[in-house]
Amino acid sequence: MTPSIEEANSKAATHKKVNAWQTPGPAAYDFRSDTITTPNESMLNAIINTTLFDDVYLEDTTTTDLEKSIAELSGHEAALLVMSGTMGNQVALRTHLTAPPQSVLCDVRGHIVNYEAGGVSSLSSAMMIAISPSNGHHLTLEDVKKHAVISDNVHACPTRVISLENTLDGMIMPLDEVREISAFARENDIKMHLDGARIWELVAADAGSLPEFTTCFDSASLCFSKGLGAPIGSIIVGSKSFIDHSRRIRKMIGGGTRQAGIITAAARVAVQENFGTGPRGEGGKLRGSHARARKVAEMWRSKGGKLAKPVETNMVWLDIEDAGYSAEQFAELGATEDLKIIGGRLVVHYQITEDAVERLGRIMDKMLEKKKTNGTNGTNNGH
Ligand SMILES: Cc1ncc(COP(=O)(O)O)c(C=O)c1O
Repeated sequence: MTPSIEEANSKAATHKKVNAWQTPGPAAYDFRSDTITTPNESMLNAIINTTLFDDVYLEDTTTTDLEKSIAELSGHEAALLVMSGTMGNQVALRTHLTAPPQSVLCDVRGHIVNYEAGGVSSLSSAMMIAISPSNGHHLTLEDVKKHAVISDNVHACPTRVISLENTLDGMIMPLDEVREISAFARENDIKMHLDGARIWELVAADAGSLPEFTTCFDSASLCFSKGLGAPIGSIIVGSKSFIDHSRRIRKMIGGGTRQAGIITAAARVAVQENFGTGPRGEGGKLRGSHARARKVAEMWRSKGGKLAKPVETNMVWLDIEDAGYSAEQFAELGATEDLKIIGGRLVVHYQITEDAVERLGRIMDKMLEKKKTNGTNGTNNGH
């Protein structure tokens, strides 16, 4: 009987627990997500040396300094630490959405509509308008214009926020498109929010600078705990008045923290070491992980595999169906090489090692051998 993905992954090795902060750690063989990246020893040292003042009283300088520096880095007036990407999106949207009836337009594949427990409807009393990109890759101005509700008709639910996600599924919405949508939103008095959980990847892929993207938006949420490896934390940026109100919303939902320095000390190291100190991620680790993702994709293709989506940052989408594999079977095969895998998406975060890629290569050989034997040739989305 085919085991579940959970069973297969529980059989895959985790590192012997010598020290939880060691590098490489348990994420080295885990392709499921970049949320899996673990904090390292320099983050631990930063935590040991942090300030321990109260951030609800705005007294913790490690936290307020980080907020100030991310605000500057992103070209916004102010920033606010939040506990997670979900909290960042929800606090930001709740701050924008003050007068129902109101709707939020987003990509149908987006995190806010699929993976935030329906927060926009319950916390902000807003309707979601989730649309498919007509080009199959990213939303365009035309898509947005077609679906945004701009009407004085009392039957309509006016669009108050356009919420974009970039990168989405590892793919890049080009800066020019973002600029056009932003100009349209401003003309129509619609707020722009960015789910920039992976904006660091976008910048490291040379798609534009951090402020070039973030200043197209009234608010943006940026995560420290995904590709950057911090244990906890995200941050939202915006105008001073926006952040002042967000602080109140954050408090309301229990996100005001006391000795927040233990979070922000690690987050600062995550940005400096892993995104890098240069404005485009120079000196960081993300560019290297993108190169490794391209290598993984090339390895799959050279063995006869097909990709389900283009590789533009750190995600590789294998068309496992075309290779004759279900998600469960792929996870099970991964476990034979002590790899953790979920579905056809491989997230090649910076903690993935060369050894993990070699193991993956052996698995690919087996999978594509099966394809040759069966003559499988299922559907393929191209790219
Ligand atoms: C694009 C995107 N936004 C937001 C989130 C939510 O982040 P968190 O898990 O920290 O709540 C995720 C999580 O993976 C994500 O992928």
